[in-house]
Amino acid sequence: MTIIVTGGAGFIGSNFIFHMLKEHPDYRIVCIDKLTYAGNLSTLKNVMDHSNFRFVKIDICDRTAVYRLFEEETPDIVVNFAAESHVDRSIENPDVFLQTNIMGTAVLMDACRKFGIKRYHQVSTDEVYGDLPLDRPDLFFTENTPLHTSSPYSSSKAAADLLVLAYFRTYLLPVTISRCSNNYGPYHFPEKLIPLMIINALADKDLPVYGEGLNVRDWLYVEDHCKAIDLIIHKGRVGEVYNIGGHNEMKNIDIVKIICKALGKPESLIKHVGDRKGHDMRYAIDPTKIHSELGWLPDTKFAEGIQKTIDWYLKNEDWWKPIVSGEYQKYYEEMYGNRT
Ligand code: NAD
Ligand code: DAU
Repeated sequence: MTIIVTGGAGFIGSNFIFHMLKEHPDYRIVCIDKLTYAGNLSTLKNVMDHSNFRFVKIDICDRTAVYRLFEEETPDIVVNFAAESHVDRSIENPDVFLQTNIMGTAVLMDACRKFGIKRYHQVSTDEVYGDLPLDRPDLFFTENTPLHTSSPYSSSKAAADLLVLAYFRTYLLPVTISRCSNNYGPYHFPEKLIPLMIINALADKDLPVYGEGLNVRDWLYVEDHCKAIDLIIHKGRVGEVYNIGGHNEMKNIDIVKIICKALGKPESLIKHVGDRKGHDMRYAIDPTKIHSELGWLPDTKFAEGIQKTIDWYLKNEDWWKPIVSGEYQKYYEEMYGNRT
């Protein structure tokens, strides 16, 4: 079995590669990644020499390079993690999101059609459903919730989902889609809420909470997401969408306070700053389908997962220090410098 994993030098893709090499030692895993600002080869250093692993630097929008690789590797399964993934960046510059997230998905599926495939899996997001109101805790996203996006990022992911379903209906390409809630864990790029707050708190820097911090996200430990995708690509029904989430809703402000407490830092570091444009209020996944059809349930409770994550950042400065001292500084200044 050969699996192409795109975006495997990023946060979730790398965790998925580690999971697959451990759980399926006889599989060959081929990672393709463009190595954008979010892709980091040092993340993959422990598997680079693994006999069942190959890394190839490719942009998924580069049709010629993608076709060449498919011809060489004749993959059985493709799991597409590659994407521009940060909402704030999409608000500043939508273009690259449309290119990678939509056009890149089309190129990968065209390659699957041309060379044949057992399964194409699209890693999507709960953000395609838009948001839910804070005063309706009884509402959850199901797979039948209409797509209703808020940001250029979520719109590009929704467009890709529609394209994937169109390739299933029109060309009978054997596809599945998963829509997961917010992940956290090791190798999370420090532009995102949890790693940003851990790293800033460690340096006694301001903790920039957008608006009042009352927005709710449904947090899932990354390993549980990887296990769900493993199940879907092996046992999921072709043409189906599976929501993934662990019923773990938390307000942003509470997450930041938990991080302060765990690190022994004062809450006075918290600074309320200008809100994100079009900021989604609440995400909440109903995972009934993946539980009842595939038996998936999350293993890691938030209290355990956040402590493991904090410990990982404490022990792995070698991974994040070079990131936050480089190009990231410029991004941080642009995003947060004048944000009042
Ligand atoms: P990430 O930004 O950490 O990693 C993205 C990876 O894709 C990077 O390694 C980057 O170099 C690579 N990449 C970007 N453009 C590429 C291109 N054109 N060609 C090849 N590689 C390219 O993202 P992540 O948080 O790991 O998210 C992975 C996927 O999961 C995305 O599709 C995202 O939409 C989805 N998702 C993320 C979350 C979350 O909480 N992070 C939740 C649900 C779904
Ligand atoms: O729900 C799944 C999505 O989760 C994925 O599809 C995205 O790829 C992923 O980035 C994530 O999107 P969010 O926008 O929810 O994640 P982010 O970490 O950027 O922000 C989480 C919440 O924290 C959000 O309400 C905005 C807020 N926030 C974020 C940052 C970076 C702050 O208050 N301050 C910050 O500095």
